[in-house]
Amino acid sequence: MSTNYATSNEFQQESERIEALWRPEIARLRIPSIGQSEAALLATFAAASSARRALELGTAIGYSAAYLAAGMGPSGQVTAVDLNPERARVARMLWTQAGLADRITLYEGDALQLTPSFGTGFDLVFVDLLWEIRENESGRQLARQVASALRPGGVLVADNCGQQIPAAEGLKAEIAAGSFRTTLLLPLGDGIFVAVKQ
Ligand SMILES: C[S@@+](CC[C@H](N)C(=O)[O-])C[C@H]1O[C@@H](n2cnc3c(N)ncnc32)[C@H](O)[C@@H]1O
Repeated sequence: MSTNYATSNEFQQESERIEALWRPEIARLRIPSIGQSEAALLATFAAASSARRALELGTAIGYSAAYLAAGMGPSGQVTAVDLNPERARVARMLWTQAGLADRITLYEGDALQLTPSFGTGFDLVFVDLLWEIRENESGRQLARQVASALRPGGVLVADNCGQQIPAAEGLKAEIAAGSFRTTLLLPLGDGIFVAVKQ
């Protein structure tokens, strides 16, 4: 029987490889990456939804994208976006070292400009730039774009949603008013918002 996600042993080993490669660089470059528990949760959502196509907005040096790829397994593909060229360079270098480079494509630019160009049918979207885009209306705009990008039954995961920052409030309000079956705010890290599209 074929499967598109890793067994727990495979995932455990991949997680250890990711931590060994990324943790020193996250500390050295002071990257505001998600924590390991949030990363494992992201991988679990990817595996639980049998995701094959994931979109990540706000990739930095590629830590969370590596976990998305690990959760999906070898048949999964991550489309990643970040506007910082130096972080993008480090992300690509680390993905190559981790053997994940052929499973992640990084676009350098503004997520609000690029997201509509990626089309539809994503199984999972991870939003991790709400601190940076700041404004309520930008969060709302991003929510509409993400809603279009997801397939029915697809999962939105967004970080920084527990602190009432304007972009997070905008994103949550727009999602709550839209075509989503469930929404949930998990008290993990800065608050992880999860919504499943109808
Ligand atoms: C919190 S970090 C991402 C951390 C990453 N998800 C992880 O856990 O390893 C946010 C990233 O979003 C990027 N960013 C900020 N505004 C952006 C925008 N409008 N479009 C694309 N990337 C953006 C920043 O360059 C930064 O690297």
